[in-house]
Amino acid sequence: MKRRHTPIADLLERLNGVDISFYDDTFLNRSLQRRAAETHCETMDRYAALLEESKAERERFMNSLQIHYSEFFRNPLTFAVLEKIILPLMLQKKEQSSRREIRIWSSACAAGQEAYSLAMLLEEMKKTTQDPFNYRIFATDRSGPVVDEARQGHFCEEAIRNVNLKRVNSWFTENGPIYTVKQELKENIDFSVFDLFNEQLSSPPSSIFGGFDLVLCANLLFYYKKEYRDMILEKAGKSLAKTGYLMTGEAERDIVLKYRYQEVYPQSGIFQMN
Ligand SMILES: C[S@@+](CC[C@H](N)C(=O)[O-])C[C@H]1O[C@@H](n2cnc3c(N)ncnc32)[C@H](O)[C@@H]1O
Repeated sequence: MKRRHTPIADLLERLNGVDISFYDDTFLNRSLQRRAAETHCETMDRYAALLEESKAERERFMNSLQIHYSEFFRNPLTFAVLEKIILPLMLQKKEQSSRREIRIWSSACAAGQEAYSLAMLLEEMKKTTQDPFNYRIFATDRSGPVVDEARQGHFCEEAIRNVNLKRVNSWFTENGPIYTVKQELKENIDFSVFDLFNEQLSSPPSSIFGGFDLVLCANLLFYYKKEYRDMILEKAGKSLAKTGYLMTGEAERDIVLKYRYQEVYPQSGIFQMN
């Protein structure tokens, strides 16, 4: 793949041996400007000189590119459409098929908020539907430490602010300022490290095969250049079951609409292939 480098990307690659050319230019420039301001560099040339001089600043800059921010029920409209329309529809289809398991891939799961939010919805559905069903959520991220954090499922009060009280009481145990996800909710979630740029595999090995009813690919596409977004969306597409859904962040809807996807409900960030 042909790579375009900015002068600072070239500098970092030369100094650190790391390749950051896959990041979107706007994101990269914004990150550079933020670090330049934080280090009181008045010009980009001055900041480039600082990067050249200081290994610690190079590391800080590289770390600033790793954004793991997430929220439970991050986009309320998306989660409402999932809860009220998409998951019940999926279940209805399962009732007519021999495979009564809903398979979901949270492909950039950060500390697990997205996977745990979905597990709460599915557990609640299990309690209200007459026909029993199973589900499995494969939650992956390329960052090992973040996946470890997700497995532990410890959150502070601020992190669970979008979770209603009933759900907090049902799914978390409180220990001082820390809320820990109950084992019961973790049972159907398989956390593992997986890089979406892996050229050999189209879905996490722990899932054995793709065939996902829903793939969540939220709030990471906009960090990358078009060719890398293509790679991620192609992987997501390949791993979906025939009538499966793709979910993205709300700021990524326009990106996805340029591909072979159609939004199933306006503004929802939930798509199916044309
Ligand atoms: C901003 S967080 C979004 C988390 C969650 N999906 C959400 O919408 O709240 C982006 C996550 O994508 C992960 N990520 C970035 N590039 C990745 C890649 N190539 N493969 C897998 N995960 C990646 C990061 O490690 C980070 O945890």
